[in-house]
Amino acid sequence: MTTSPPFFAQLQVAHPIIQAPMAGVATPALAAAVSNAGAMGSLGIGASSVEQARHMIEDTRTLTDKPININVFCHAPAQRDAAREAAWLAHLAPLFSETGAAMPAALDEIYRSFNDDEESFRMLLALRPAVVSFHFGLPSRDRIAALANAGVRTMATATNLTEALRIEEAGVDAIVAQGIEAGGHRGMFDPDAPDECLSMAVLVRLLVKRTNSPIIAAGGIMDGAGVKAALDLGAAGVQLGTAFILCPESAAGDAYRQNLQNERAGSTALTAALSGRPARGLVNRLIRHGASGGVRPADYPVAYDAAKQLHAAAAKAGNHEFAAHWAGQGAPLARAMPAAELVRLLVREAQAAGGAA
Ligand SMILES: Cc1cc2nc3c(=O)[nH]c(=O)nc-3n(C[C@H](O)[C@H](O)[C@H](O)COP(=O)(O)O)c2cc1C
Repeated sequence: MTTSPPFFAQLQVAHPIIQAPMAGVATPALAAAVSNAGAMGSLGIGASSVEQARHMIEDTRTLTDKPININVFCHAPAQRDAAREAAWLAHLAPLFSETGAAMPAALDEIYRSFNDDEESFRMLLALRPAVVSFHFGLPSRDRIAALANAGVRTMATATNLTEALRIEEAGVDAIVAQGIEAGGHRGMFDPDAPDECLSMAVLVRLLVKRTNSPIIAAGGIMDGAGVKAALDLGAAGVQLGTAFILCPESAAGDAYRQNLQNERAGSTALTAALSGRPARGLVNRLIRHGASGGVRPADYPVAYDAAKQLHAAAAKAGNHEFAAHWAGQGAPLARAMPAAELVRLLVREAQAAGGAA
């Protein structure tokens, strides 16, 4: 019996490094620069319409013919609850009045789940990116099989062993082991389930031992020593998000970049106050306000509608205290440099540390 070649070799990706899909931050220029440098770039289309997503993928393809990963959100549809949403808006009312913005009369479910979105599925089947990855759960087995039949490899995020076993059983090709250190949204399938908050190191070891899938380590990996450490734990590859935010090719705005490069980078928190699902970001006034008063945010992504409206109004006056500046615990180690240079540096550092990145 022959063993199939490792995940990255099959994809013909030279370095086992993935630039994380970061909805709103990863751009065609970022993903293409990473892929052209021999790692794998990703685009997050979870917050995009099908037309926006198609344009992003086509734009990336004008910049690279190397493999890219396209990431979608597979969350359960929002549980609409008028009383809960009104209570959340009432909790945010002082912040709206401070910015002078009109209080929204009602909130919307601003993103569709990929699981309810036939058009995005058809678009991905037609464009056939090298990899499609799933966050917040899984699509149907039929869709996973259809992508596989079209030659598309798949990955899905797990934050614990139970999720990893479901991913493996569903026939997904690789598991992204997302530790509690990670920036952005925790990919947990059910945000109301108990969360062990496993570190990347523990989760990677657990999944290497208990599954037969390639494990991609994510969370707090910022340099080549971190890459090597994750590979030494048995990971087949690594996925880095926060490390790429300061690249000039990312869509991060000036305030986000400044905060990542000053003392605020040392203070991140997991919060559901921004979007309705736990996510790690640089601590700001909205995160602190959300933690006060014991009020439960509206469900994901309904709460995000409120946060985005609040931020848009405040940002007009130069106030970025209500922004979603997602970042992981390794944020103080983020380095500002072009993405291709960062990939080359990560590889050099990992090799200097004795690793085979
Ligand atoms: C700004 C930002 C946006 C993110 N958006 C997504 C996303 O759209 N889809 C996804 O699967 N993961 C997303 N993540 C999580 C990453 O996939 C990954 O788990 C995380 O970046 C790893 O931790 P690190 O930031 O410490 O490297 C995001 C992370 C960041 C920092």
